Amino acid sequence: MTDAITTIVIFGATGDLAQRKLVPALFNLRCKGRLPRGLRIVGYARSSLTDDQYRKLMWNGARELGQLETRAEEWEAFARDLFYVCGDLTVPGDFMRLRQRISEVSEGAEPSNVLIYLSVAPSLYEAAIKGIQASGLAEEDTGWRRVIIEKPFGRDLVSAKALNKVVHQVVEERQVYRIDHYLGKETVQNLLVFRFANAIFEPLWNRNYIDNVQITVAEKVSVGDRGSYYDGSGVIRDMVQNHLLQLLTMVAMEPPSAIDAESLRNKKVEMLKAIRRWTPDDAAENTVRGQYRGYLEEKGVGPGSTTATYAALRLYIDNWRWQGVPFYLRSGKAMTEKVSEIAIQFRCPPHMMFAPGPGVKLTPNVLGLCIQPDEGIHLRFEVKVPDQGMAMRSENMEFHYGSAFRDQAIPEAYERLLQDALDGDASLFIRSDHIEEAWRVVDPLLAAWEGGDSSPPHLYDPGSWGPDAADDLLARDGRSWIRGCGVHDDTDG
Ligand code: BG6
Repeated sequence: MTDAITTIVIFGATGDLAQRKLVPALFNLRCKGRLPRGLRIVGYARSSLTDDQYRKLMWNGARELGQLETRAEEWEAFARDLFYVCGDLTVPGDFMRLRQRISEVSEGAEPSNVLIYLSVAPSLYEAAIKGIQASGLAEEDTGWRRVIIEKPFGRDLVSAKALNKVVHQVVEERQVYRIDHYLGKETVQNLLVFRFANAIFEPLWNRNYIDNVQITVAEKVSVGDRGSYYDGSGVIRDMVQNHLLQLLTMVAMEPPSAIDAESLRNKKVEMLKAIRRWTPDDAAENTVRGQYRGYLEEKGVGPGSTTATYAALRLYIDNWRWQGVPFYLRSGKAMTEKVSEIAIQFRCPPHMMFAPGPGVKLTPNVLGLCIQPDEGIHLRFEVKVPDQGMAMRSENMEFHYGSAFRDQAIPEAYERLLQDALDGDASLFIRSDHIEEAWRVVDPLLAAWEGGDSSPPHLYDPGSWGPDAADDLLARDGRSWIRGCGVHDDTDG
């Protein structure tokens, strides 16, 4: 029996994602010996390129990441399995050429398995799916067929449902791998291990012990040269509906009975369903939108645009575990630093027998789950200051992936996700009902922000922590934004 031949087809093969993430991730997987034997990669895009020109383009993209100096020989071997087809997603004849080429590079046979990656503008998803159908690429007569779809999946609930419908006319849900690269991050997967492989945290993980939860995904970069894409999306569609809600589900979901794709995803959807739904009025009340000064001068941004580059949200989860606990989420571009973290702030002790000194605030315990860049976990608690009566100070107990796993570099998120898709493990991919539920959460907010009578976004300075109004949102609850990782006082600064 001959070995099964697996082919990965990348639509949008000359784009940034393919160059900087997908092909380098596949190369790393090959170097680690984790790709199926005989795997071929066929790039498909509109530029007219030969196979060699395409290989060169991918080499340049990967080299910019500084990965290749010592691995030129391995690249040579890898690149021999990279091929290119020039074609348009809207031209049926081009798809037939693609199909023909796929069997040519598979030694004239039909490949056994095909993984198609939609790394194209969302406006082309429908055309791509229809092309796959018309060319018969989705038919599973020789092996499996799977389709990876990048975010954003829809612009709102209505469009996401419509897209799900189109997708399901061509492939079954089990063949669809909707990607959110946050789920490929080690530290996001570690949330499951941390919560469910330890006995000491989960008993505290509820409204009886936790005062509030804060999720921060801040970026130092501005929108840069992505202005025309970003201006039509804004922070809610770009970050909140997907990455932040993923972090929220991982922190707040109930324990699944097993770690298989269906058990895990059922629990996540159940959690999303429990998020209290806003009316547009509630949405305005519980959120702050910001725009950094200078955004309007970015290339591709419309004149007078009110697109939000920053959002702060207060959400409640209406279930037994979380009733009454606020979840504060914030994300923005052009902020003071790049950091993604979750801070769990515990309640203060019910009775305090140690009087904090004059001017000293009692600091509640904080558990900081640092997603990036300094991947790790911090637990902040009070200790006695030596030689000073009963004076207290907050100290941190810390775990850093970098020092604990010195010989094991944290892989790029796409490595894990591509490998899982090849292995048929959909645990870290998003099911259709999850996507729709996540839109149900943010749709009222989008309606409130994008309605004709909405107030303009609050301006903030690049390099800051966002608009003051975001501090007011928490101050109204008697709270402030905290840093979970690496900072000793309870303020942003
Ligand atoms: C992407 C967004 O999904 O995530 C970008 O489109 C954002 O705007 C990026 O910069 C952030 O990802 P990471 O992994 O750098 O936090």
